[in-house]
Amino acid sequence: MNTLYQQHIATLMQRYENAMVHFKLEAIVIASGHKTYYFQDDHSHPFHGYSGAQQWLPFDIGADTFLIIQPGQKPTLVWPIRDDFWHAPNPIPEGEWQNNWHIEPARRDDKWFQNLPKQSAWLGPKSDLEKRDITSCDGLNAYVDFAKAVKTPFEIQALQQASQSAVHGHLAAKQAFLEGKSELDIHLAFLSASQQTSAQEPYPGIVGLNEHAAVLHYEHKAINALPNSRTLLIDAGANCHGYASDITRTYTRHQDDFSALITGLDTLEQSLCQQATTGVAFRDLHQSCLVDVAQLLKDHKICSLGIEEQLEKRIPQVFFPHGLGHLLGLQVHDVGGHQIDSSGQLSMPDDHAPFLRLTRTLEEDMIITIEPGLYFIPMLIEKMQAEVAHHGCDLERIQHFMPFGGIRIEDNLQIKSESSINLTRQAFQALE
Ligand code: GLY
Ligand code: MN
Ligand code: MN
Repeated sequence: MNTLYQQHIATLMQRYENAMVHFKLEAIVIASGHKTYYFQDDHSHPFHGYSGAQQWLPFDIGADTFLIIQPGQKPTLVWPIRDDFWHAPNPIPEGEWQNNWHIEPARRDDKWFQNLPKQSAWLGPKSDLEKRDITSCDGLNAYVDFAKAVKTPFEIQALQQASQSAVHGHLAAKQAFLEGKSELDIHLAFLSASQQTSAQEPYPGIVGLNEHAAVLHYEHKAINALPNSRTLLIDAGANCHGYASDITRTYTRHQDDFSALITGLDTLEQSLCQQATTGVAFRDLHQSCLVDVAQLLKDHKICSLGIEEQLEKRIPQVFFPHGLGHLLGLQVHDVGGHQIDSSGQLSMPDDHAPFLRLTRTLEEDMIITIEPGLYFIPMLIEKMQAEVAHHGCDLERIQHFMPFGGIRIEDNLQIKSESSINLTRQAFQALE
């Protein structure tokens, strides 16, 4: 890991040195952020360090940690000393990573920033204490965010590891579903097998049985086991050094027309994964997905209209209302997905795909998700009935599918020019 980590630091130094030349800076200070608290309470929200700081360190960064980046110098890590007997001590992690850093332990009100060069810029969240001293630099955030989309080998290894950990959890969750367990118990099985607490998950795991599978970001975990659990949709990931996996699987119990729909969506998803290679505009891939969903609706006798007419009437969007995927990294919906360039110009999605989080052209070693879905969402079906004349949908067949909720299948891909690497399917193959 150390060679990969060293290379990673060298790449980040290069990116930041370019930024300092571009913005005429002598130093950049990156803050991890500080704890925030529930209103009128002494409990803090779970802490997630700012991704721009986390990116530099091979362990989970804590609050009140600062990095100082200067051209041609080892970066400095300002490590928080906590005089606090209420919480666990905060020792500096051992390891070879330290060779790449100058480490400066400091207390909260130490004036470690007083000797910084005049042209220093701040990156990341600021507390009131810090507001006075170092100013932000317009455009710096967008500049560094744009580069984050292409991952270094160190980051790719972490993302692979995050997929592997999550897949342990997914296999345990599938088993718990087949045993008829509740949403809560399925989630607990996932957490235990992926070796994490719910606060450590990169995003709150989505565990929906039956109709709950139609709620895109279903946020509850019902305690009761159902006598007839037909479908499990689980969208859950894990972390490695702060890098996330974001994986969805949908299971059912019987061989029937709903399982045939799952197989159809799985084939569609794998075909899109194969098409996701260097140079492909992600907007176009999303459009291909809409065409494929229209075909699936026709093949499974949900909608009798031809593909063109379905697209014209936006029928696929009734059943697949979200985007095909997004950048993945330290943030699950990683930054920079709409950026055209490092100046921060944006390319927003078209109105027929308003929730698309990625409008960039794919580049080698971007990590993205591919996550088509097909759901029976009462609100959207009613809206279609009210607004679309001659929609061609078989409402009885839709009623038949509604108790199953819906389907999403989501993999994490490392983009390559010939054939991208499916980190998720690799992990399932290694463990199943
Ligand atoms: N888990 C959220 C998403 O798939 O984007
Ligand atoms: Mn996702
Ligand atoms: Mn997901």
